[in-house]
Amino acid sequence: MSRVPELAALDGSLVEDRALAAAGEGVLAWTRVNMPLLAGLRAEFESERPLEGRRIGMCLHVEAKTAVLVEVLRAGGGEVVLTGSPRTTDDRVAAMLTRDERVRVYARKADTIDDHYEHVERVLTSMPDLLLDNGADLIAATVAAPGSRVLAATEETTSGRHRLLGELASRIPFPVIVINDSPIKLRFENEHGIGPAVVDGFLRSTNSLVAAKTFAVVGFGSCGRSLARTLRALGASVIVVERDPVRALEAAFEGMRVTTIDRAAELVDVLITVTGRPAALTTEVMTSLRDGVVLANVGHFSTEIDVAGLEQLAVSRHEIREDVTAFVLANGRTVYLLAGGEMLNLAAASGHQIQIMDLGFALQAHSLRALALDPDVFAAGYNPVPPEIDRAVAEAALKTLSTVDLSR
Ligand SMILES: NC(=O)c1ccc[n+]([C@@H]2O[C@H](COP(=O)([O-])OP(=O)(O)OC[C@H]3O[C@@H](n4cnc5c(N)ncnc54)[C@H](O)[C@@H]3O)[C@@H](O)[C@H]2O)c1
Repeated sequence: MSRVPELAALDGSLVEDRALAAAGEGVLAWTRVNMPLLAGLRAEFESERPLEGRRIGMCLHVEAKTAVLVEVLRAGGGEVVLTGSPRTTDDRVAAMLTRDERVRVYARKADTIDDHYEHVERVLTSMPDLLLDNGADLIAATVAAPGSRVLAATEETTSGRHRLLGELASRIPFPVIVINDSPIKLRFENEHGIGPAVVDGFLRSTNSLVAAKTFAVVGFGSCGRSLARTLRALGASVIVVERDPVRALEAAFEGMRVTTIDRAAELVDVLITVTGRPAALTTEVMTSLRDGVVLANVGHFSTEIDVAGLEQLAVSRHEIREDVTAFVLANGRTVYLLAGGEMLNLAAASGHQIQIMDLGFALQAHSLRALALDPDVFAAGYNPVPPEIDRAVAEAALKTLSTVDLSR
């Protein structure tokens, strides 16, 4: 087994500007007080120290809620080596996190996809014991390289789950708890968090009205359903594009119009992809888009819209406003792409609501603790969140809500 480097011997953190740390602390103050579940877990972790001596390699959007989770892991005795995703880093928070000498951060808002993969390598070079992943980039790179000492991992999202059960299936020698499949993540984060957060990103980037516009939501999973419902509640006309006939039927039964991507291209003012799969919007379809159409993505990887293809198709492009790029096509029509095709709610807004992430990150902290204390009780590869963790998080959450009274 390879020698484990001391944290001090690793590359220093790579962030945009350490002078932003004080601003990051300001953002965190509000976030902490709105994450009561993590506050409770922090107190438990401080007394139990379940992560003592463990190094945790993390890939999670580097923003305020993630920083509160990092504080919990540190309270549990763990060291943290963290990277994020392109365009979703809050540079103030990244700077603030570097103040802790037991934390390394490799993340800048301006990172390209190539930078991202270099950061993933940096995290793995630190020889982590545990991984906390989002999209399975760390897990895939660990499996591909010999000599890892990873004992166990968690995976946050649908896109990572697809990879664990697809290209990585049967190749992972350690247990991975998939947070995404917990009913708490699916029913609360994906079904309640996504819609309002994406609308927030749409409003901030465009300052445009939602009502009386026609939106296409491509993909009607738990995230697409939340987005479609929210847009409709704000007065939009919503068209769903969904390749699974059962889910297409669900959309129809919710009163959504359902059509193909080709037909949607001719009809809509705004088209948003949320499929978890590449090439949901291809260049063939782009040529049929109406003049002035706005495009955005919510899925984990920016490949849902073929942005490289759009660049080639365009005769010119310019940044018309922050997070809005105008592409003029050969047919004379202009298409506007939001946030470069990265996740709109994170790249152009503040991500999911704080309380939503308190739930999801409580699942993460519980799961990492369970894995750190007893990795052998879990099977190698995919594991659901243990039901006792779901119950513990739900019970703790009920106690925090003013709308719930369970007294006798
Ligand atoms: N932005 C965020 O904050 C955030 C949060 C949670 C999840 N996500 C990501 O959102 C994506 C969707 O997550 P989900 O849980 O709803 O996934 P899901 O798998 O439940 O649903 C995706 C749906 O898209 C459909 N689909 C796939 N390819 C399609 C295509 N080409 N055309 C039409 N429909 C297609 C599938 O049939 C499926 O019904 C994932 O990438 C996930 O990681 C993002």
